[in-house]
Amino acid sequence: MTEAAVCPVPHENRTHPLGAPAGFEEAISDGPVKMIWPNGVEGWVISSYAGVRQVLSDKRFSASRDGAPTMRTEGETVIDDSVPGNMNAMDGEEHLRLRRPLSRGFMVKRMAEMRPLIQKIVDEHLDEMERKGAPADLVSSVCLPVPSLVIAELLGVPHEYQALFQATAKELLGKNGSKDEYEAKAAELGAVIGKVVAEKKASGDTGDMIGLMVNETDFDMDELMMLAIGLLVAGHETTSNFFGLFTLTLFERPDQLEILKRDPSRADVIVEELMRYTIGRLSGAGIQRKAIEDVEVDGVTIKAGEWAVISLHANLDEELCPRAGELDLERKAVSHLGFGFGPHQCLGANLARAELQILLQSLFRRFPNIRPAVPVTEMSFREDMITYGASAIPVVW
Ligand code: HEM
Repeated sequence: MTEAAVCPVPHENRTHPLGAPAGFEEAISDGPVKMIWPNGVEGWVISSYAGVRQVLSDKRFSASRDGAPTMRTEGETVIDDSVPGNMNAMDGEEHLRLRRPLSRGFMVKRMAEMRPLIQKIVDEHLDEMERKGAPADLVSSVCLPVPSLVIAELLGVPHEYQALFQATAKELLGKNGSKDEYEAKAAELGAVIGKVVAEKKASGDTGDMIGLMVNETDFDMDELMMLAIGLLVAGHETTSNFFGLFTLTLFERPDQLEILKRDPSRADVIVEELMRYTIGRLSGAGIQRKAIEDVEVDGVTIKAGEWAVISLHANLDEELCPRAGELDLERKAVSHLGFGFGPHQCLGANLARAELQILLQSLFRRFPNIRPAVPVTEMSFREDMITYGASAIPVVW
């Protein structure tokens, strides 16, 4: 098999704000293709449904991000492998040691208990948006604050620290900071978490994530801090961006929005289809894995030491479902890859699902005539290695 020519990874200039980076779909149309990233590292882009599942579940690929292809240039790396407790970059037993106890904090029962709380947080933010009046920015009014407050509750940050937690989290999650700035902000947030840890230790409480980590695991303090901050980072911008992107997708498709308005009790299935389609439609190449031995994927050999970078464009592969390129909110839920697959599959998927369902149901029930104040093509969007989203969504109702 001859190797394909290496082209630069398309990662900007989307032809539509809800579409893939310009040239990406054409570049992947013939199967795996080798691309080069802005930091000079090459990777094989895998975008078929079967290929993505293989890469994400095959033990011959490591999740270590050491030397990975990335959009970031020197000095901008945010969290790397050297940080203790960065489970997303770990393999095997080392990964499971951290993941297993945390998954208890995300059990279905705990998520069901959190629903009334999520509803309350959402309602308060929608009340405030209504009180201030139109036009409003959906991102700053709802998309950003709701997920960070929900994570504060999940972690068990008491109410008296939540404003501080929220403020430092907001700064920490600001884009394009240098590694030094990131570490300074993480240290501030760490101080808040440190107080919570001391209180949980004293009370022996195991009813929330920090209590569970403090009182029922052997995690050391560095790991515990990183895991708490990691949950905030992993669960905040993703949920926030996707709520905005789902809303914009629905604004673009009034026929589909009608389906949600007609039967909001189907929000669970509707969120799965929005997730499948929206992520599939806008994804470039994102999640990296390093081959630790030669592996054949979709007809190419990824040699030991080479990178596979998967694209969740795989959600639009006809192998997953018929008419995969179309949004159909009446579709039954299918096994899409929006939350990943395999040992690193999103730990917070059920929490994100609950948040997105409640947010969508509540927004359109409360504001049935809500609509964008400017065309989506005039809104500004933020690019990042993993997440992409609208910086602001001006709305009227
Ligand atoms: C719409 C929202 C979300 C999306 C689209 C999303 C997507 C993903 C994806 C694709 C992965 C796999 C990454 C990989 O294989 O390297 C992942 C992992 C992860 N996610 Fe999410 N996520 C979301 C929300 C959340 C939330 C709310 C939390 C927690 C509060 C969370 C916590 C995590 C964690 C801890 C991991 C790493 C798991 C591991 O390495 O074992 N995510 N997420």
